[in-house]
Amino acid sequence: KAKNSSLVTRCEIGDSLEEFISKATPDKGLIRVMMCMGEALRTISFKVRTASCGGTACVNSFGDEQLAVDMLADKLLFEALTYSHFCKYACSEEVPELQDMGGPTEGGFSVAFDPLDGSSIVDTNFSVGTIFGVWPGDKLTGVKGRDQVAAAMGVYGPRTTYVLTLKDYPGTHEFLLLDEGKWQHVKETTEISEGKLFSPGNLRATSDNPDYAKLINYYVKEKYTLRYTGGMVPDVNQEFIIHHRQLIVKEKGIFTNVISPSSKAKLRLLFEVAPLGLLVEKAGGYSSDGHQSVLDKEIINLDDRTQVAYGSKNEIIRFEETLYGKSR
Ligand code: AHG
Ligand code: MN
Ligand code: MN
Ligand code: MN
Repeated sequence: KAKNSSLVTRCEIGDSLEEFISKATPDKGLIRVMMCMGEALRTISFKVRTASCGGTACVNSFGDEQLAVDMLADKLLFEALTYSHFCKYACSEEVPELQDMGGPTEGGFSVAFDPLDGSSIVDTNFSVGTIFGVWPGDKLTGVKGRDQVAAAMGVYGPRTTYVLTLKDYPGTHEFLLLDEGKWQHVKETTEISEGKLFSPGNLRATSDNPDYAKLINYYVKEKYTLRYTGGMVPDVNQEFIIHHRQLIVKEKGIFTNVISPSSKAKLRLLFEVAPLGLLVEKAGGYSSDGHQSVLDKEIINLDDRTQVAYGSKNEIIRFEETLYGKSR
């Protein structure tokens, strides 16, 4: 074979999703949940291409406009969880109340999801995604992000990927959706190196949060590279999945979404922040709400919101020190 055949061939061959998960966990119920969610992500990725983004004239309890495409993704995920037969309760950004999915409490799971993160940028054709976290049994409150047995996101961009982690198996793993509809394992991440990318969410908070302004000024002065789309899934994805195969781009950095007196927290702990926290930390990265890992925050209400940063170790230390004068 020609040495440079990789220029024209597809991503390297690896395990199918089912082969991988069956090796990674003996838990048949968890395998079912992760496989069924994979089916839903695949369907959403096709639907997102053409589905209407028209407003449904509704707002969810977070005050977001609910788009037709949000509701479509939401329905597909609830259906997939019912079909898995191992989901006790499910709950989503669009329906933040526990829905009984009919699965068992003992040996079953409860799942929280953001059906479509970045739905407002679908029409601009930026990457968007689905985020979900899986907790054992029937509790989604009074638990922590660290209690998740699995977390994942679907990324719908030029490539469709299913990025997942299982609590008891090392690393965060990327699966690529192939033309024939199968998910193939293409990458695992267990370590994150330092770099100079910054992805500053809620930048408007710098107007009345001088410490956040100071942090941003630091990135500018130190000539960090801006990488921000307004979709947390692609923005956080780049922190640990940016490099592929031989082309290892070692640059990493930090994603921030900081609040201020006039700009309250938007990101939801249960549906978005905790699942991405597990993905980032299992990939060797760090997360923080300014004081502690987002995985150590107790989820008190289903609709709790928080500020957050995800990134490499030194970046998270800088984040905490700049905002609160000390790092844990
Ligand atoms: P969602 O589309 O699920 O409601 O969440 C979008 C989030 C997140 O992806 C992003 O980081 C943030 O909203 C951006 O918010 P603003 O555009 O309001 O700054
Ligand atoms: Mn929303
Ligand atoms: Mn979201
Ligand atoms: Mn959403």
